[in-house]
Amino acid sequence: MLIIDGKKVSLDLKNELKASVENYKAITGKVPGLTVIIVGQDPASQVYVRNKAKTCKEIGMISTVIEMPADTAEKHLLDTIHELNNDPAVHGILVQQPLPKQIDEFAVTLAIDPSKDVDGFHPENLGRLVMGHLDKCFVSCTPYGILELLGRYNIETKGKHCVVVGRSNIVGKPMANLMLQKLDATNCTVTICHSATQNIPFYTKQADILIAAIGKAGFITADMVKPGAVVIDVGINRIEDPATKSGYRLVGDVDFEGVSPIASAMTPVPGGVGPMTIAMLLKNTLQSFQRINGL
Ligand code: GUN
Repeated sequence: MLIIDGKKVSLDLKNELKASVENYKAITGKVPGLTVIIVGQDPASQVYVRNKAKTCKEIGMISTVIEMPADTAEKHLLDTIHELNNDPAVHGILVQQPLPKQIDEFAVTLAIDPSKDVDGFHPENLGRLVMGHLDKCFVSCTPYGILELLGRYNIETKGKHCVVVGRSNIVGKPMANLMLQKLDATNCTVTICHSATQNIPFYTKQADILIAAIGKAGFITADMVKPGAVVIDVGINRIEDPATKSGYRLVGDVDFEGVSPIASAMTPVPGGVGPMTIAMLLKNTLQSFQRINGL
């Protein structure tokens, strides 16, 4: 069984991005800038935002984090986004989700200029993805990272049956639509399963490529997987484990112990899809910089 090593691929990618940033800096005197807005004090979001800022700096981009209190009015957030839309030093804007309940997440998504929407959440970017214009949009970072992994590991996808479990706007929907496109690492027959699907194992057992984005620890068990399948695990679930120092550990949506003997290739958790997400965010930011500067 092949372990698809997202940690290694993300390191390779970050080194490639760092070299590109240095090269563009030498040519233009400018560097890409990413601004992340965090509203409130959600601990998981704080960790994500800190990691995004740290990685951004490591590869030579300008990272700006705007912290706003949990009771921020929606109008204030939207006004800030409009200022960033008009700031030529800002190439990527990301508003960390989830947002406090007085703020309409969709209104925030719509406010971000699609040409700086490095999350790929704006309907214009999602629509362009669905229409196959990947060179003229931003792809949501988690599905984009999975595509990068499939490509770099030369996973055969053409004509294969890809089953995506999960239908979120961030992962499931863009993922399924990507796998449908006529590209090198896609070109699949695609099935989407979700919480109302009857008999999920009936579908997952037919998957040549199984992508699990459910958010439930160990949901995909060995009896749900076709022997030889490629299994991509998007889940990051905390489960209690008194044997660890923190009292918990991270597991995926796939029962790794059970499934690994029958899969042909798998992404581990941690170290699979997760590390790719930030790398793809920075790839999107570089791409925005290239487009805005005509490079
Ligand atoms: N919260 C969890 N993942 C993400 C992400 O990829 N982008 C944003 N904006 N918020 C998130």
